[in-house]
Amino acid sequence: MGRPSAPRPPAVPDQKTAADLMAVLPMTAEVKDGHLWIGGLDTVALAAEAGTAVYAMDEATIRHQLQEYVRWTTYHWPHVDVVYAGKAFMSVTMCKLVAEEGCCLDVSSGGELAFALRAGFPMERIYVHGNNKTPSELIECLEAGVGRIVVDSFEEMERLSALAVERGLTQDILLRVTPGVEADTHDFIMTGAEDSKFGFGRNQGLAMQAVKRAIELPGIEFQGLHMHIGSQIFALHSFAKAIEVIVEFMREIKDETGVEVRLLDTGGGLGIAYGLPDEPSTIQDYGKVVVDGIKAECERWGLSVPRMAVEPGRSIVANAGVTLYTVGSIKEIANIRTYVAVDGGMSDNIRTSLYDAHYEALLANKADQPRVMVATVAGKHCESGDIVVNDAPLQCPEVGDILCVCATGAYCQSMSSNYNKQVRPGVVFIRDGSWRWVVRRETYDDLMKCEED
Ligand SMILES: Cc1ncc(COP(=O)(O)O)c(C=O)c1O
Repeated sequence: MGRPSAPRPPAVPDQKTAADLMAVLPMTAEVKDGHLWIGGLDTVALAAEAGTAVYAMDEATIRHQLQEYVRWTTYHWPHVDVVYAGKAFMSVTMCKLVAEEGCCLDVSSGGELAFALRAGFPMERIYVHGNNKTPSELIECLEAGVGRIVVDSFEEMERLSALAVERGLTQDILLRVTPGVEADTHDFIMTGAEDSKFGFGRNQGLAMQAVKRAIELPGIEFQGLHMHIGSQIFALHSFAKAIEVIVEFMREIKDETGVEVRLLDTGGGLGIAYGLPDEPSTIQDYGKVVVDGIKAECERWGLSVPRMAVEPGRSIVANAGVTLYTVGSIKEIANIRTYVAVDGGMSDNIRTSLYDAHYEALLANKADQPRVMVATVAGKHCESGDIVVNDAPLQCPEVGDILCVCATGAYCQSMSSNYNKQVRPGVVFIRDGSWRWVVRRETYDDLMKCEED
């Protein structure tokens, strides 16, 4: 999920104000009265009312991104499922929103399925992932009536077949295939070794063996193939290369078994702008490369064009979200660096420590002021690696300022923890000038609800 991004030049005070950071902020962001506003709401007022730390997400941006995917994939072929990857950010409200936009939902655990069930999400629109689904998770999926299970191993296939037969059911499945194409941010690598814990590699004929077994096993119906070549991908030719490989495999399947793939799921991975130098591809271009690419490759091999699915996560929610913190202390270490400590940290955003991710930061209450210094935004945890943003150009900070870290809508709340028994921030959705909790801030009681005295 966290591919390395391009090397970044050393940070300098860049004199930019929030108005220069619109590329990484929600589409409704603006600077008004010296403050950062999102969705018609002053984020400084929001921080005062909701408290900090808080994840603030712009509903208009989320809906717009989903609509863009639907628009620019079905523009080229009407039979495309846009499957939101719930791992990027999931809440009951988010599941409802995805359902309202007519999209499908990817769940990767029994827990994510439980959220979809609680939201009343249509089960036929669920895609289930995971490289080691437990028997009880498979039973939960069968009993819920999920649309498709993406099978990841021979053991899982046999297990699922037996469980479905026991229940008199037939479950539609896809097989996850490792195409041997690994995307890097700006390029792809052909990995002969296909070293991945996910799916079936084509080396040694494993993927073909899996297809043949899926076709013969009772209780499961082989619908097609799935692949996911990486995340935060900027280079669309990585997708094009993987599509070439997988459609060629579809042809081999037809040649060897006579069976045509009816559904091809190309996974997620489209990159987003975390920092100002980032220039991700548009959803419009992505739709063309992926959907037209599949059509062209199918034509080339004389195959029927299958139903398709794409599984965006990050590009739906990342730029819709910001995290608002309060500055608690400022430590200037002469000739070394200035630490600005906030009331959160690696428990609400692990991506910096985990992937060396980079974010843009600004002071929401000084949004119209230039970023005149470089500071390191530190968290409040007992780890020196607890950094939220390394070397961030920033306005001149004071204790009590509201520090906004941009583009935190994906893989922050969903990867959050209670390290140091920190309560997790809540999530608010902002829409038309007002806000509501979609996940309330945790309390100490929440922290202790599983404790036995
Ligand atoms: C199977 C699968 N689909 C979709 C996604 C979503 O990817 P992204 O958030 O990069 O779009 C992931 C992310 O890891 C994934 O593993």
